[in-house]
Amino acid sequence: MSYTVFSPSRIFSGPGSIERLKGLVEELGAEQLFVVTDQGLRKAGIVEKVVNLLNDERLNVSVFDETQPEPTVGNYEDALKLAKDTKAQLIIGLGGGSSIDLAKAVSLGMVHPGSILDYVGIDKVPGPGLPTILVSTTSGTGSEVSKFAVLTDEATNLKSVVCSPYNLAVASIVDPELTLSLPPVITAHTGMDALVHTIEGYIAERSSPYTDQLALLAFEKIWNNLSTVYHDGSNVDARTEMAIGSMMGGLVLNTTDGAGMVHGLAFSLGVYCHLSHGLSNSLVLPYVLEVVAP
Ligand SMILES: [Fe+2]
Repeated sequence: MSYTVFSPSRIFSGPGSIERLKGLVEELGAEQLFVVTDQGLRKAGIVEKVVNLLNDERLNVSVFDETQPEPTVGNYEDALKLAKDTKAQLIIGLGGGSSIDLAKAVSLGMVHPGSILDYVGIDKVPGPGLPTILVSTTSGTGSEVSKFAVLTDEATNLKSVVCSPYNLAVASIVDPELTLSLPPVITAHTGMDALVHTIEGYIAERSSPYTDQLALLAFEKIWNNLSTVYHDGSNVDARTEMAIGSMMGGLVLNTTDGAGMVHGLAFSLGVYCHLSHGLSNSLVLPYVLEVVAP
């Protein structure tokens, strides 16, 4: 069988890996930086911590911190307008899947004309967007290493997926220390999303020896540590296992070209019932497995 492995050029992982950010920015030569993040991280002090790392008179850092959970096309257009106004040269996605997906979309919108909806589907993006550095602060979507960006089209209530290798970051940073302040409920929801990625990747029609091994290893890391991080969010070792496991889940889905029926149903459930992505997945997982397990 043949298969294609997609991943960012570089993935920095482990406690303290956020310290690599400034060196990366300098290496890329960008001066106008645009950070896409959310209010939760602003309140947790993580936006300030990251902006302080970029403290340099040559760098101008603009921040869009209005990312919505499950971001809409309208939310994307607001972010894109600010990115254009500030003449962004490099996009930094900082957050969970919502902020990171929005960052990817903004990167494409800065270069390619028309609506982001023109690029929904597989390989519809004609070329690279602005370079991105994607920094995850949850252990869930694996979006920091994936080629997917998901937005909700409010006109049709559809989750719309832009699947393109041009969504891949120049570099991803997976620093478990950024997940230490994540509340238990979000830890649980995002962790379950990551677990589902390993399950759906493992049973996917396009699974391969590469994804099978990666999915099993990632499943084990998440299965063995999710309960620990839910009860003790400050456990750095368990948070590190979750961060690596969820990142590996993202790499699995890159190669299987997406998830399966659990995600398909969960997308609808999330949009119509306003539930988080991880919770929607968790609710339908047992029923789908009952059908597909045989
Ligand atoms: Fe997911």
